[in-house]
Amino acid sequence: MRHRQIYNLHDFQALARRKLPRSLFAYINNGAEDEASLRWNRQAFEQYEFMPRMLVDVSERSQAIELFGETYASPFGISPVGLGALYSFDGDVRLACAARQANVPYVLSGASLTRLERVAEHAPGMWFQAYLPGDREEIRRLLRRVAAAGIKKLVITVDIPVSVSPDRYARFGFSSPLRPSLDLLWQGLSRPAWTIGTFGRSLLSHGMPHLENWRAARGNPVLSASLQKDVKNRDNFTWDHIRIAREHWDGVLIVKGLMCAQDAVRARDVGADGLIVSNHGGRQADGVAASLDVLKDVVDAVPGLAVMMDGGIRRGSDVLKALGLGARCVFAGRPFNFALAAGGREGVDTALALLQEEIDRNMAHIGINHPYEISDGRVRRRAA
Ligand SMILES: Cc1cc2nc3c(=O)[nH]c(=O)nc-3n(C[C@H](O)[C@H](O)[C@H](O)COP(=O)(O)O)c2cc1C
Repeated sequence: MRHRQIYNLHDFQALARRKLPRSLFAYINNGAEDEASLRWNRQAFEQYEFMPRMLVDVSERSQAIELFGETYASPFGISPVGLGALYSFDGDVRLACAARQANVPYVLSGASLTRLERVAEHAPGMWFQAYLPGDREEIRRLLRRVAAAGIKKLVITVDIPVSVSPDRYARFGFSSPLRPSLDLLWQGLSRPAWTIGTFGRSLLSHGMPHLENWRAARGNPVLSASLQKDVKNRDNFTWDHIRIAREHWDGVLIVKGLMCAQDAVRARDVGADGLIVSNHGGRQADGVAASLDVLKDVVDAVPGLAVMMDGGIRRGSDVLKALGLGARCVFAGRPFNFALAAGGREGVDTALALLQEEIDRNMAHIGINHPYEISDGRVRRRAA
């Protein structure tokens, strides 16, 4: 991939734009409404600077971390992103296998199109993200299914009580489910490699893609003239449902989508083992703070709890800044899914390696041998 002008994670975006139908590209790329939160997620990283130390022996560098009793090769993972199997043939499995080979966490989305059991077979150790139904019995059935697949790390996303704001991608023809139309047909015809190599091949191999992991039972097909996505019972979702999930889940429980200290304390009090500070990649309410800007408050509120974050991570230096503010691990969503669209498995392998190389180089330049040494006064807020 490096021969194709791919030198950092930003570069996958343009290639993905050329490969995907425009509705799918817009679905991944765009944020909510005027995209302020999406921009802030990136801009926040520029508010912080490193204080490097020189003449430190950094020849023993390792970016490996311990998290929830596991050793991972790097302090970052792949965020849950819906519809991965539409970005490349067998996309969920390809992402999961790439992460497994690189030994970094991969979180399968609850809005994915591949049965979690099949992904877990290829990538034991993967994490699963659920959009829990607001019904005790349904929660129990879903969690039983997840546990039966051997999955030990459950991420419950809590920041989307109603669907994400559609206007930035509906304009490009995206909806969930997709509606058959002349426009969609035209989009397919204008991306024949995707139509044959991804969508056509999926149809032949697995039939029409469905939301396989939305609930314990199979959900909607990805393409339908009339069906509505089942979003009922999500706006009544409260801490009581997290408590129910805790009762029915013996593994590691992580709450994703918290943005303030008070919610972090509540998560700890209902028995969460970790949390992911996240504004859903700027797809939640537009104007919500950048994840990085609230990270330190959250970390300080729940000492001892594994606080992670995502939103805007594109560079090794971003990873180290977030770790400097107290994150135990970070995640990135769009870059790895653009890499998947751009180059399939090879694209994801390249993206993972590029980020690892950047972290390693930055660690040496800053004068640290381990990512967590960064919290030792090496990151500070820039003077205004
Ligand atoms: C296209 C798209 C789909 C997403 N789907 C999910 C999802 O199914 N579950 C979830 O918890 N988060 C989802 N997210 C949010 C990501 O997990 C993550 O929080 C976000 O992408 C991080 O920001 P980044 O893309 O700047 O790295 C989605 C994000 C995008 C861009």
